[in-house]
Amino acid sequence: MQDSKQVIIFDTTLRDGEQALQQSLTVKQKLQIALMLEQLGVDVIEAGFPISSPGDMQSVHEIAMALKSTVCCGLSRAVDKDIDACYEAMKDAERFRIHTFIATSDIHVQSKLRKSFEDIREMAIRAVKRARNYTDDVEFSCEDAGRTPIDHLCGMVEAAISAGATTVNIPDTVGYTLPYEWGNIIHTLFNRVPNIDKAVISVHCHNDLGMATANSLTGVMEGARQIECCMNGLGERAGNTSLEEVVMAMKLRGEKLMGGIYTNINTTSIARASQVVSGITNEPVPSHKAIVGSNAFAHSSGIHQDGVLKNKSTYEILTPESVGFKDNNMHMTARSGRHMIKSVLTNLGYQEGTYDLDEIYQRFLKLADRKGQVFDYDLETLMFFSHELEEETQFSLDNLSVISGGKNILPTAAVRLKIGKRTRTESGTGNGPVDAVFNCISRLTGIKFELFNFVISAKGSGMNAQGQVDVDLIYHNRHYHGKGISTDVIEASAMALISACNSIYRAKIIEDEKEH
Ligand code: KIV
Ligand code: ZN
Repeated sequence: MQDSKQVIIFDTTLRDGEQALQQSLTVKQKLQIALMLEQLGVDVIEAGFPISSPGDMQSVHEIAMALKSTVCCGLSRAVDKDIDACYEAMKDAERFRIHTFIATSDIHVQSKLRKSFEDIREMAIRAVKRARNYTDDVEFSCEDAGRTPIDHLCGMVEAAISAGATTVNIPDTVGYTLPYEWGNIIHTLFNRVPNIDKAVISVHCHNDLGMATANSLTGVMEGARQIECCMNGLGERAGNTSLEEVVMAMKLRGEKLMGGIYTNINTTSIARASQVVSGITNEPVPSHKAIVGSNAFAHSSGIHQDGVLKNKSTYEILTPESVGFKDNNMHMTARSGRHMIKSVLTNLGYQEGTYDLDEIYQRFLKLADRKGQVFDYDLETLMFFSHELEEETQFSLDNLSVISGGKNILPTAAVRLKIGKRTRTESGTGNGPVDAVFNCISRLTGIKFELFNFVISAKGSGMNAQGQVDVDLIYHNRHYHGKGISTDVIEASAMALISACNSIYRAKIIEDEKEH
């Protein structure tokens, strides 16, 4: 039961965040993120939009069944078939929320929906009532509330609550409002909507003008008790409110500004959650990102360093430990046993039964042989890749050798790929070793792509890091991303390209199915 000081954290990384990614996540990847968010202490996870695709339907179902303490929520437009799809996806779970929405601003009502405001109101009422037949936990959102005439907004909120909505969400869909305007909107709702105390008021802010965190907090100061947000601020366009920013702002300033408000978030799990989401979504966290960026707690200038050495509080308002950054990683070697690996995975938040310990252990041993010491972030990387391996893959790397070096050596590669059930080998040259490998892979897969971006980075720290390669390919006017991690950057490059080729292959199959 929520008390008046608790702010519910509603995470929409898997819905609003996911819809902005270049490539959608697999069901397993979504489940991995959901379980990590549950560990973080998120109250509600918006797991997807079940009507939008069979994949979303399945992931919402699996997440709803897997969550224990966190409520799973599915999104629906204010139409019967969407609401029914949410119910279908979650009906076997003990608890679930249906979130239904309709746009309320003049521009959306007139240009997008081409209806009258009265029609929209009726659709909203009908949708909320239909969802209430399925669950007592119904959220209603007025899309583009930030640009909705205030009389319309008050009327809509009142109607939705009367129809049975238990949470009413007020989105600044296009990130247009300034904090004082947003505060006024929420303030007015609390003053003018007679039944407002019958529902939790929620805020959902986009970051187009960089106001999402400020607006969400202003909403809370005016009485909102749910914030919708995404890890690392992912989301449509410039993103949604960053979970880590609002949570830490409330933790640090909540007492003074808002009389002791709090959230259920285990703040020392924030850094890890951020890294897991960044790794799985392939969205790097900018180094200067508040709370979770690698520079967020670094002091660079001499004056700052001098101040911090004398007294940390001169320039440090939060400690890195308070969000879970730690220097000490567990060191594992090829002599570490299964128990050790299992215990590190448990500490990292992986529940037993959600992974194949034998398979991970075999891959850990191979890595330990190559690398000597393995750290917990390496193990995390193995976990991402184990999920990738479990997906059906058409192409996989069987063998690779490369010759390159001084100016008289022509870079030459030989690549052997498993292609379906067969194995094929190609050799060739290039303007460098990676180019030679890519030429071979392109011929073996038959995929003629344009390489749009190629980035090598270190995964882990210092000399113990592995090489991570991210490639962005263009194929038939679409971008495809691939990632590879290895102690050998040429191998990581091959793995990244092969993973992108697998995505292209899967996309081709889906296209072909649509055509026939
Ligand atoms: O930004 C928005 O308005 C939304 C709604 C669906 C809640 O994401
Ligand atoms: Zn949104």
